[in-house]
Amino acid sequence: MKNRTKHILSLSGYLVLFLTVAAIITVAIFVYAAAEERFGDNKGMIALVMLIAVFFLALVCTLIDGIRRKTMIDRPVEKILEATERITAGDFSVRIATDHPYGRYNEFDRIIEDLNRMTAELSKTEVLRSDFVSNVSHELKTPLAIIENYSTAIRDAEIDRETRERYADVLIATAKRLSSLVTNILKLNRLENQQIRTEQTSVRLDEMLSDAILQFEDRIEEKKLELDCDLDEITIVSDPNYLEIVWNNLISNAVKFTDAGGSIRVSLKEEQGAAVVRVSDTGCGISKETGEHIFDKFYQGDTSHAQEGNGLGLALVKKVIDVLGGEISVESEVGKGSTFLVRLREGKRREK
Ligand SMILES: Nc1ncnc2c1ncn2[C@@H]1O[C@H](COP(=O)(O)OP(=O)(O)OP(=O)(O)O)[C@@H](O)[C@H]1O
Ligand SMILES: [Mg+2]
Repeated sequence: MKNRTKHILSLSGYLVLFLTVAAIITVAIFVYAAAEERFGDNKGMIALVMLIAVFFLALVCTLIDGIRRKTMIDRPVEKILEATERITAGDFSVRIATDHPYGRYNEFDRIIEDLNRMTAELSKTEVLRSDFVSNVSHELKTPLAIIENYSTAIRDAEIDRETRERYADVLIATAKRLSSLVTNILKLNRLENQQIRTEQTSVRLDEMLSDAILQFEDRIEEKKLELDCDLDEITIVSDPNYLEIVWNNLISNAVKFTDAGGSIRVSLKEEQGAAVVRVSDTGCGISKETGEHIFDKFYQGDTSHAQEGNGLGLALVKKVIDVLGGEISVESEVGKGSTFLVRLREGKRREK
């Protein structure tokens, strides 16, 4: 439909030119006939009349064309140029009004619409960028304040050895948190900019999952959580370094968001030719509203949980799964628990 309108519009341009030329020639013929009748054999006079007539006709047509150009070409081109200059200067709030209503768009209206869409996208990216910077600054501020306070306190000659050691432990833990924040931001950045090349090696998923669970053994014991593993022997072709990010974050969340005495279950099965990992817990669960944002950067569901972590874990998990070519979904009920399901693409899977 759009293309048809475009052709009709450019056709009408040619039609105007054709009619103008036809009009000049017709009027010229009439003027010639009238001049011949009036001046008979006086060829010099006829030529002069013709010259003046053609000159005026051409002048009138040029004026009409000038006005047409001014309104139909120069005006929209000026508007577009002005807008592109503002965009180049970094102003993404520019929106230009089209000259015709939708349905009667010409080429300029279409360029204007595309420009408007582009600036809308650019302003969205700009908002995301500035949100990201303020989130990072916020996440950096808290641990930096802790480091400043505790390192000042540790210099106090009055405090006993035990307190000093406790303060030193806080400093070490905070430095680790900072370091993991920076590492996560860098990983996310690399994944988002697609600056990574994934390795393709055979990975024993069950072994990877057991190793990942082992890393949380102390915390699981500390919280007296019941652990249930049901891992089938499955080998897929994928990138173990990136898969590790997925398992670590899912298991870390399950441990973190499950109260003492609860239970965690990790299973690995083959379903319809795909490797399916389920990480379930009997923790606090995720409400529908929270569930809509858990894969967003820096999103943390509940302020009571916000004390630990930076809300980057699931954002990273989602990016990794996208890059590796898989799917992730979550089922959850508030107060009962959550199940995260990861399905790794069939095409990448190879039985050993
Ligand atoms: N197993 C879970 N049970 C309940 N809520 C969860 C679970 N996993 C994630 N969430 C919710 O999703 C939010 C985002 O999770 P994400 O892993 O991205 O951040 P985080 O764990 O708070 O911080 P980080 O991963 O950076 O340490 C969490 O803050 C929490 O509200
Ligand atoms: Mg997490």
